[in-house]
Amino acid sequence: MSSTTQKPLVFVTGASGLLGYAIVYQLLEAGFPVRGSARGKKVELLKKALSSYPNFEAVEIADIAAGDYSDIFKGVDAIIHTAAPLPGATDKETAFRSAIDGSLHVLKQADKAGITKIVTTSSVVTYPLPGGPFTPETFLPLTKEQAFASDHPGLIYFAEKKYADLAVLDFAKGHPHITITMIAPPFIYGPLAPGFEYLASEPGTTSLSTNSHIYALITSNDDKGIPVTLPGYVDLRDVARAHILAINPNLETPQSTGKAVPNANRLAVLSPYSNNTHDTLQILSSSRPELKTRLIDEKEAPNQLDGKPVEGIEYWRLEEVIGFKKDEFRTWKETVLDTVDSLVRLEQSWKNKGFKL
Ligand SMILES: *[C@@H]1O[C@H](CO)[C@@H](O)[C@H](O)[C@H]1NC(C)=O
Repeated sequence: MSSTTQKPLVFVTGASGLLGYAIVYQLLEAGFPVRGSARGKKVELLKKALSSYPNFEAVEIADIAAGDYSDIFKGVDAIIHTAAPLPGATDKETAFRSAIDGSLHVLKQADKAGITKIVTTSSVVTYPLPGGPFTPETFLPLTKEQAFASDHPGLIYFAEKKYADLAVLDFAKGHPHITITMIAPPFIYGPLAPGFEYLASEPGTTSLSTNSHIYALITSNDDKGIPVTLPGYVDLRDVARAHILAINPNLETPQSTGKAVPNANRLAVLSPYSNNTHDTLQILSSSRPELKTRLIDEKEAPNQLDGKPVEGIEYWRLEEVIGFKKDEFRTWKETVLDTVDSLVRLEQSWKNKGFKL
């Protein structure tokens, strides 16, 4: 690509995660130069995974809630912040603080570097569930105190994400020259972006992230993934695309006005389709007959795929603010088949390395 057509540099935090990596991959394929951050040995793996993209640079951020990012944010035009602690990863107070401080620290460092376009990954759990409303400034009524008193890792995670979004909104209010878009997905399923096998380099459900719910349909073991049911799902490729579109949100849409913080948006990005475990096993047995003997008994299946269809998602908002139309979402059949194919290829790469499955 010649320098005259050079696209702006995008920084992606959490670039070694399932979602962060998919975003980096789509950006690179679209011709954007990308700088991605990861932690520890993931930095080297990320470099290997994307070694065929000269426009990609991997940097280390050891602690997303601290440090001076002046150097790594140099020349950056936009930031997509996907890094977040996983549920139950550390003790609850630490996880809670790092979710909030992590977002705020990235925003403050971005502001210091003069960056004015920011996208962060929220979660559908920040909205009143199951029915919404899914407007930019409505939140789940759960308080931090209630979540901590419950001692339930799921609820603590919900509260973490909610208060992180509230902190982002508050920051946006004080920085009207910065556009901030929070993208709020439910469980994410989809084929791994090419090269991700370097990051999911050994068998285990942690490297699969939420795709473990799909993997569980062809693998009888006790690990059923994240022990929470959420309404809905979204395809990995679709939610990655939503993050990229959100770099340049349309703030002038007539229906988007009336928000307390005009430069901030929060968008629920959920597939308009739904399905269930029973029908999903049917889809797999008819479209992938070679996997028939591997399909687990419906009674053994994890229940995360049985979430009820979600009512009340404001698809017009997605179209107006980021130009993502409702009919552009992938169908469940496409998502589940592509995901299973991708996981079977990943298994093969594990076997080639000598792992026994
Ligand atoms: C699941 O998807 C299949 C294939 O598109 C469809 O025939 C079936 O009706 C769906 N099931 C539900 C519960 O929506």
